[in-house]
Amino acid sequence: MHNTTYSRQRVSRKTGWTLPVPYCNCGCPDTVIDTGHIGHWLFQLTKCQCQVVNLGAGFDTTYWNLKDQNLVAKNFIEVDFTSVTSRKCYYVKSRKQLLDKLTSEDGDIKFNSTDLHSSDYHVVGADMRKLDEFEKKLNECGIDRNLPTIFLAECVLVYMTADSSSALVRWIADKFPTVFFVNYEQVNMLDRFGEVMVENLRTRGCALAGVTHCISLDSQKDRFLTNGWEGANALDMNQVYKNLPHDEVQSMEGFGVLVDLQVALFAHYCITWSYVDRQQPPLGLSSIRIAAPTETTQ
Ligand SMILES: C[S@@+](CC[C@H](N)C(=O)[O-])C[C@H]1O[C@@H](n2cnc3c(N)ncnc32)[C@H](O)[C@@H]1O
Repeated sequence: MHNTTYSRQRVSRKTGWTLPVPYCNCGCPDTVIDTGHIGHWLFQLTKCQCQVVNLGAGFDTTYWNLKDQNLVAKNFIEVDFTSVTSRKCYYVKSRKQLLDKLTSEDGDIKFNSTDLHSSDYHVVGADMRKLDEFEKKLNECGIDRNLPTIFLAECVLVYMTADSSSALVRWIADKFPTVFFVNYEQVNMLDRFGEVMVENLRTRGCALAGVTHCISLDSQKDRFLTNGWEGANALDMNQVYKNLPHDEVQSMEGFGVLVDLQVALFAHYCITWSYVDRQQPPLGLSSIRIAAPTETTQ
């Protein structure tokens, strides 16, 4: 097993909330940064009375990792193109051990070719650039706009045009009074390393249509702050790495994870987190943080 794969699994088992550092497409292995306390704080703050929406979830396994730790949100919804969700539905449907975990006293599991609905887990196909379609699919999952909700996007928004992702985050801020967003994707795309990354991906048929939001930590935060969000923070992955618990850093260094190329790579990925906390009294979303960066508020 690859060292970093081992690290990913170990961290996942420990906290259940991990953001991968993947898709560099330049020969680097993927690894993980543990953002455990973001998820745990939200689950603690709400006593699991919250929802999770994983945007562009692909084959992400966060729901299953959380469930293994008895961290079960009221609703966990994964959205992706139908071409992806149909494969994921087939995958779940054909594995008894996954189906057994979904079976509950209070509900059946409903499948069609692209969507899955169970009592607390949903996989739905939608193009998130089409907000009507997106909204309809969330409603089919029984989303409750008044419950605290966390939206996750890992290497997803960058594939949409800047206008489309801005419209999506604005729509979310408009519709959800208590909402937290965690976005993981590229940053510093205008320096030489960033230019090579963009070009490398483009020649492989993978255009980063939304790269203008990925110019700096400020441009990442501004996408939220100019679209109705109350506050936003961002850290590049070197900063996140420095704030990891000591034992995690030591074990990653022991595996030789942090080689020079990865230091450069870590400077080109970031986590941005943002919140709207309109309920009275506020839930306290402004206090959730990965480390202690300077916060930007509206
Ligand atoms: C690089 S993958 C990341 C998958 C997953 N988030 C992870 O970290 O493993 C990007 C995902 O976003 C999805 N995606 C991109 N644009 C989308 C859109 N407009 N609507 C729905 N899904 C989209 C893709 O289909 C793909 O599964």
